[in-house]
Amino acid sequence: MDVLEIRGGRPLEGTTRVYGAKNAALPILAATVMTEGTCELFEVPNLEDIHVMLDILRHLGAGVKRLGQTLYIDASHITKTDVPLHLMRKMRSSIFLMGPLLARFGEVTVSKPGGCVIGQRPIDYHLRGMRLLGAVIQEQHGTVNCVSNRLKGTSITLDFPSVGATENLIMAAVLADGETVLENVAREPEVVDLANFLKTCGAQIEGAGEDTIRIRGVHHLKGSTYRVIPDRIVTGTWMIAAAATQGSIHIEGCEPLHLGALISKLRDAGTKIDIDGDQMWVRGPKQLKAAEIRTAPYPGFPTDLQAPMMALMAAAHGSTFIREDVFEARFKHVGELIRMGADIRVDGRTSLIRGVEQLSGAEVEATDLRGGAALVVAGLLAEGTTKIHGLHHLDRGYQQLDTYLRDLQADIRRVESEEAGMSMP
Ligand code: EPZ
Repeated sequence: MDVLEIRGGRPLEGTTRVYGAKNAALPILAATVMTEGTCELFEVPNLEDIHVMLDILRHLGAGVKRLGQTLYIDASHITKTDVPLHLMRKMRSSIFLMGPLLARFGEVTVSKPGGCVIGQRPIDYHLRGMRLLGAVIQEQHGTVNCVSNRLKGTSITLDFPSVGATENLIMAAVLADGETVLENVAREPEVVDLANFLKTCGAQIEGAGEDTIRIRGVHHLKGSTYRVIPDRIVTGTWMIAAAATQGSIHIEGCEPLHLGALISKLRDAGTKIDIDGDQMWVRGPKQLKAAEIRTAPYPGFPTDLQAPMMALMAAAHGSTFIREDVFEARFKHVGELIRMGADIRVDGRTSLIRGVEQLSGAEVEATDLRGGAALVVAGLLAEGTTKIHGLHHLDRGYQQLDTYLRDLQADIRRVESEEAGMSMP
């Protein structure tokens, strides 16, 4: 098992280029199963979750070829409509196969994903939406089987603007009979990216990025060529890390328009941010100021940046409230930040962070992807050495994290845990 070893206190400096967004690429890859012909996808990150999705596509019978960050998927000859349990267990996003397989083949069997460390994460909105589109669903022995001759367009209002449910229902509706109207939907850039990809394949979708999406079903989708949007959460992580270390970095190939809420909070905290098209320059202040945060669906503050932002606030001047309004249990990183000297109290969905003079390096464990990113930010700003276990979580969402940060002058390396001379905390 590898460990990430960070010697803190060095300002991040230099230029980095952002790669494609995992959370945009995953539903797009799932959507390729509806296409006949080859899809050429640019900027698909090389990450563990993407590898699992590709294994699922191969299992279904799709042709998959990778050349660097470009993927070629040919789903013309898919023969299977089930997602096996061992792959489903590896990644919740396997649920994205439900809409596309049902829409194209009239049948799909997936295993039911369990809860996870950030919350229960039920799939009731997905299932309700599929039923309203005409699917007959049977849930038994941990599997969900959906069948339908042909889905029929209808009106669906989500109880909460769930990203995954919005994406799954868009995918189901593009091959349904007639018009589907989806209301109270997620407006995240990743939803818009999926809709844009599907439109290049021949789908008829209007309103992605707004509260209501209208879809007119078509009979076939063809293969297409598409570039995945830059990862706004990775961009945000680098920005927070630069602010935390009094660094000065230049980020290329990003989309600042997707990061309005973070940019505004980082500026409140004293960070200088200049923007020119797809480039940003981020300069951390000598002393960070506290800035209150409340997570919300897009365009609110992203839940995926709540944990890294908490690490930043742990060393800011003053006290901060952070409220997590998207997931009910996304504070698992708090205990590890406290090991590093942070002063944080949690009460339900709210945490109070009292800024301390200095965090100190410690041996800690990542328990989820973004919680792991918080520990990296804390390690970069702390005094002394931080050793982070549980790197498989970080590998799900950050491509070569140590290499990217070393290129920005961080003192960070990935070592075998024996070389690092320790046992699991
Ligand atoms: C997506 O998860 C992202 N994952 C998450 O990224 C992200 O944190 C989240 O959206 C919110 O932005 C991918 O895109 C692959 P939701 P998703 O459905 O779609 C409740 C990361 O670190 N809900 O918008 O699963 C749910 O429990 C991650 O990259 C239901 O109650 O999130 C949560 O409280 C992790 N029933 C809220 O809605 C449902 O059927 C929002 O979840 C569906 C969701």
